[in-house]
Amino acid sequence: MAQKISVMITEEQVEKRIRELGEEISRDYAGKTLHMICILKGGVYFMTALSKRISEDVPVTLDFMSVSSYGDDTKSSGVVKIVKDLDQPLEGKDVLIVEDIIDSGRTLYYLMGLLKDRRPNSVRLCTLLDKPDRRERDVKVDYEGFVIEDKFVIGCGMDYMQKYRNLPYVGVVEEV
Ligand code: IMP
Ligand code: MG
Repeated sequence: MAQKISVMITEEQVEKRIRELGEEISRDYAGKTLHMICILKGGVYFMTALSKRISEDVPVTLDFMSVSSYGDDTKSSGVVKIVKDLDQPLEGKDVLIVEDIIDSGRTLYYLMGLLKDRRPNSVRLCTLLDKPDRRERDVKVDYEGFVIEDKFVIGCGMDYMQKYRNLPYVGVVEEV
């Protein structure tokens, strides 16, 4: 079946919002070192773009984690497996988890618990997109790019069967 992609959030809107988030986070982390944790693979585009908008007065360090949730392609099961763990310890660090999208909240609920056990100084959560309609777990989102309706989206790191992550806008795939 052929697929058609319609634009939900344009590249310009995404870039503008990331710039704003960068300014907000830079203000909040003044005097600290910001340790950004990217949740692979989806978070990688947002994380690199956001990190470039953090003020040079706030030093940034990066680490990466890869998790997979068992389940079908469009719904996460909440059982999370760590495929690649962080390289560095979190103790005493001011951690910002950077995600592409929060849907049921199960992945992040599990991860927040796990990372807090490693005794960071603080842990906050930043997501490009938030789909609150589908929330099953109470996850506190500290910074969010856009709140969207319940649609399956692609681009800006998000995939449909591993494709479309590279699109610079947020789109919706339709079967035509
Ligand atoms: P949650 O555990 O249901 O919050 O799932 C979060 C993860 O599911 C995200 O990090 C994405 O990888 C994936 N996901 C959820 N909604 C979408 C979507 O609309 N498009 C692409 N991936 C999604
Ligand atoms: Mg993800």
